[in-house]
Amino acid sequence: MPDLIINNEVFEAEVGETIMDVARRNGAHIGFTCSRRGICTFCECKVEEGAELLNPITGNEKSRLSAERLENGSRLSCRAVFKAKKGTVRVTSRSEEVKQQFIGIFKAPTIQDKNDNLGALLGSVKQASKDYITMYPYVIKGIASGKAGLDTVNPFKDLNNLVQDSKRVFLRQIGLNRSKHSK
Ligand code: FES
Repeated sequence: MPDLIINNEVFEAEVGETIMDVARRNGAHIGFTCSRRGICTFCECKVEEGAELLNPITGNEKSRLSAERLENGSRLSCRAVFKAKKGTVRVTSRSEEVKQQFIGIFKAPTIQDKNDNLGALLGSVKQASKDYITMYPYVIKGIASGKAGLDTVNPFKDLNNLVQDSKRVFLRQIGLNRSKHSK
């Protein structure tokens, strides 16, 4: 059984599961709003170890993540599937990165450090927005060619699921709910 380390926490994975499957089963901090349909890109994570244990980068990821991000190890958690029976995959989620940058603003000891952390956070948000907008034409193209449904332009289709799952992840993050859950 392979291990998956998400933001420094170790979880067990099964062959055929996606990184997102493992994250949601365990309440790990990986964002999503489109419920694994490969649209929102909020589930992006950086694979720091064990990329070879996962399926190759999919066409969907190529159309939603810039070449630069893919080269740096980024994957969509809802598209990265475990293929190997053993080994360790280590990832850091983009949502965790942003969270740490946000916390860093308040924890920084000096004004200069706070400003630096704020700059890093704004840089991340700007980059994410740019990536999102520049890759969106591929979604439109998919719809025009009939390869994707019209609902793919709505990244918030599964909002109820998002709210419920975010609540569980938040409670777990602050230590009020250590239980595992599935979905
Ligand atoms: S949950 Fe993966 S792209 Fe939306």
